[in-house]
Amino acid sequence: MAGTFRIGLLGHGTVGAAFAQLLAERADHVARVTGTRPEITGVLTRSRGDFAEILAASDLVVELMGGLDPAREHVLAALRAGRHVVTANKLLLAEHGDELWAAASENDVQLRFEAAVGGVVPVIRVLQESLAAARVERLHGIVNGTTNFILSRMADTGAGYEDALAEAQRLGYAEADPTDDVTGRDAAAKMTILARLAFDTPVAFADVRYEGITELTADDMAYARELGLGLKLVGTAERVNGGISVRVHPVFLGAGHPLASVNGPFNAVTIESEAITEITLSGPGAGGPQTASAVLGDVVSAMIPPASVGRWAPDQAALPMVEDVTSAFYLHLEVADHPGVLAQIAQVLGLQGISVKSVVQRGMGEGARLVMVLHPVRESAMTAAVELIGGLDFMRARPRTIRVIDEEFV
Ligand SMILES: NC(=O)c1ccc[n+]([C@@H]2O[C@H](COP(=O)([O-])OP(=O)(O)OC[C@H]3O[C@@H](n4cnc5c(N)ncnc54)[C@H](OP(=O)(O)O)[C@@H]3O)[C@@H](O)[C@H]2O)c1
Repeated sequence: MAGTFRIGLLGHGTVGAAFAQLLAERADHVARVTGTRPEITGVLTRSRGDFAEILAASDLVVELMGGLDPAREHVLAALRAGRHVVTANKLLLAEHGDELWAAASENDVQLRFEAAVGGVVPVIRVLQESLAAARVERLHGIVNGTTNFILSRMADTGAGYEDALAEAQRLGYAEADPTDDVTGRDAAAKMTILARLAFDTPVAFADVRYEGITELTADDMAYARELGLGLKLVGTAERVNGGISVRVHPVFLGAGHPLASVNGPFNAVTIESEAITEITLSGPGAGGPQTASAVLGDVVSAMIPPASVGRWAPDQAALPMVEDVTSAFYLHLEVADHPGVLAQIAQVLGLQGISVKSVVQRGMGEGARLVMVLHPVRESAMTAAVELIGGLDFMRARPRTIRVIDEEFV
C-alpha cells in the first residue's frame, strides 16, 4: 500500500473547498502516478485549525487564503520548515516573490504557483519549463476573467460599463468589491509574475503601470465594431531598446489577433519569440474547480521526485523599465463641426510625427465626433498631441485614447 503524502491546507473558501473535493476524488489516481497517496492532514480558516499543528503534520502546504497577511508569514514559515508550498496568491507573489523564492531555494523546497496566473491555463509551467531556452520577446495576456466578461457583455449587448458590471456580479464573475479587477491591479500583479519569468529579470509590482476599464463606454464598443476591432483589457510585457516595458491597459485588437476572439471569463496569453513565432494558451481564467485543478497539478509535480524546482528569480541584474514605448492609438474626439476642424487636428498630429490610418466622422453641428485610428507612435508624442488637441477651442470634451494592437500571426 502506498505511503501518505501529507497536505496542510490554508484556506477553505471557493478554491480551498474545491481543492479538498478534487483531491478526495483524484487521490487514488495520484497515488498510482506518484507512488504516494495525498491526504489533507489539516485545514486552517479564521474559525478552525492551528497553523503550527498543521505545519508540523504536513509534507506540503497549499496556501489558498489570499491577501498578504498572514499568507506571507505562513508561506515563509512553511518554506523555512522545509515544506514545499503551492499557492494561487498572485498579490503575494507580485509583492513578496523574491523573499519567498529565496526561502524556497535556501531550504531546497519547491514553490509552485501555476494557479496564480491564468487560472487553469498552464502559462507558468510553459515559461519555466517548455520555453526555458527561448528568448521571449513579448507577451500579451488577457489575465483577468472578470474584466473580460464585462467587456464581452458590453460588446455583445451594447450595455454600458455599470450594467455589465452588475450582471457580472449577479452571475458570480465579479466580487462585491471588484476594485482590484476593474482598475487593472489584479492583471498588473499577474503581469509582474509573467514578465519576471519571461525575461529572467526582477520586476517590481510598483513599476507596472496599469489602467482599468471603468472609463470605457458603450460608444467605444460601437466604434470598435465599426472599425473591425475588439476591445480588451490586455497586459503587455515586452523587450524595448535593451530594457523592458510591463503594463496593463484597454486595447483595441485587430480581428486576426489571437486574443481578439477570447470572450467571457476566459483568459489567454500569447508568447512571442523569434524561434517559436507565437504560442497562444487559453482556457477558463478562474472558478473554484478550475483553479483547484491547477493547484492539484502543482501538488502532483511537487510529489514526483526528483524535484523539478523551475525558475523564479534570475541572478542577473534588473533590466531597466522603459516608460516611453510605441503604440498605435484610437483617438476619440467630440468637436463642434466647424470648417477646418479636421485640418487643425491633422496639423497637430503631423507636428508630433503622427499619421492617421483611418477616420470615422459621426454627427453634425455641436455634437460631432471624430474617431481616428493612428499609426504607431511614441506614447510621449501622443500625450503631447492629446494635450494640444484638448486645448483647441472647438473641442467639446476631453480627447480619449485607447491603444491598438494590430499584429497578426499568419
Ligand atoms: N476564486 C477564484 O476563482 C480564484 C482564481 C485564481 C486564484 N485565486 C486565488 O486563490 C486564493 C483564494 O481565493 P478564494 O476565492 O478561494 O478566497 P475565499 O473564498 O475568500 O477563501 C479564503 C479562505 O481563506 C480563509 N482565510 C482568509 N484569511 C484568513 C486568515 N487570516 N486566517 C485564516 N484563514 C483565513 C478564509 O477563512 P473563512 O472561511 O473562515 O473566512 C477562507 O476559508 C486567493 O489568493 C485568490 O487570489 C482565486
